[in-house]
Amino acid sequence: MNNPLIRPRRLRATPALRRLATETRLHPGDLVLPLFVREGTAQALPIASMPGVMQHSLDSARRAVVEAAEAGVSGVMLFGVPEKRDAIGSGATDPDGILNVATRVLAAEVGDALVVQTDLCLDEFTDHGHCGVLGSDGRVDNDATVKRYTEMALVQAGSGSQVLGLSGMMDGQVAAVREALDDDGYSDTAVLAYSAKYASAFYGPFRDAVESTLDGDRRSYQLDPANRREGVREALLDIAEGADVVMVKPAGSYLDVLADVAALSDIPVWAYQVSGEYSMIEAAAAQGWIDRRRAVEESVLSIKRAGADVVLSYWAVELATWINEKEAR
Ligand code: PBG
Repeated sequence: MNNPLIRPRRLRATPALRRLATETRLHPGDLVLPLFVREGTAQALPIASMPGVMQHSLDSARRAVVEAAEAGVSGVMLFGVPEKRDAIGSGATDPDGILNVATRVLAAEVGDALVVQTDLCLDEFTDHGHCGVLGSDGRVDNDATVKRYTEMALVQAGSGSQVLGLSGMMDGQVAAVREALDDDGYSDTAVLAYSAKYASAFYGPFRDAVESTLDGDRRSYQLDPANRREGVREALLDIAEGADVVMVKPAGSYLDVLADVAALSDIPVWAYQVSGEYSMIEAAAAQGWIDRRRAVEESVLSIKRAGADVVLSYWAVELATWINEKEAR
């Protein structure tokens, strides 16, 4: 057959035709910037394994959220890097702990221009580095940990966090936090459930960013990378427990799980493009092995195409700037 009847290439012929045929678009409003705020530093410090990402001081974090808001990014997700850690992660529930202080300062700085969200997990605050408290057998105690999460939730909500990112993967955490918030008058504070959070090697650079002390792994609470159905089950459980948003994390290697969750969820589905996904592209680009901008755009676009409504990405601000430039042309 030398004259095909069907010619999909017709719609690829010019930039204008391709624009009309585009199925997925990135918008600054679909992006959230994760931000690290370090206790006791007067200036931002570089993170060796995440070139371009900083451990912020309170001052530099203020500038960073203003810049994010100006670029049209919808929110920030805050992580605290405390100076002192202990067995139960006391810093997490101390109103003067770094994460809660940063939340107050940044919420006051940006007002309604952007949504201030907080990571709700104990790993940055415990001296053993686990996401929860340990029982006498040395294992993470689910129910005692959930109790700590409810305490954390109230302090974070009281500090002005509008969305609590529950990333600890304890059973029953969403229902318990929802109930604690409602009982204390925080019924407007939203819960973002990191539902399908896998025990991933791609969190490697993040452990550097928060100076994690973990010796061991998180496989007794995070999901096995081999399991697809289980990720969907966790998301459905969190929806039933009252989550406002569910998340799949990491994003790039879990697009199948993301697509499954997006097909079944009746609430927003977000995805977290994690530290390792960031650092791999940065490292390859620094070697001149890939086109940095195209790889960054393609990686985030693919996450949206698979079904994410919103993407948490360390490139959020730069990506938003590129999109804004394109639209201005
Ligand atoms: C837990 C948490 C982690 C990340 C976000 N929240 C680390 C972990 O579970 O080991 C990783 C994010 C990233 O790698 O960018 N507080």
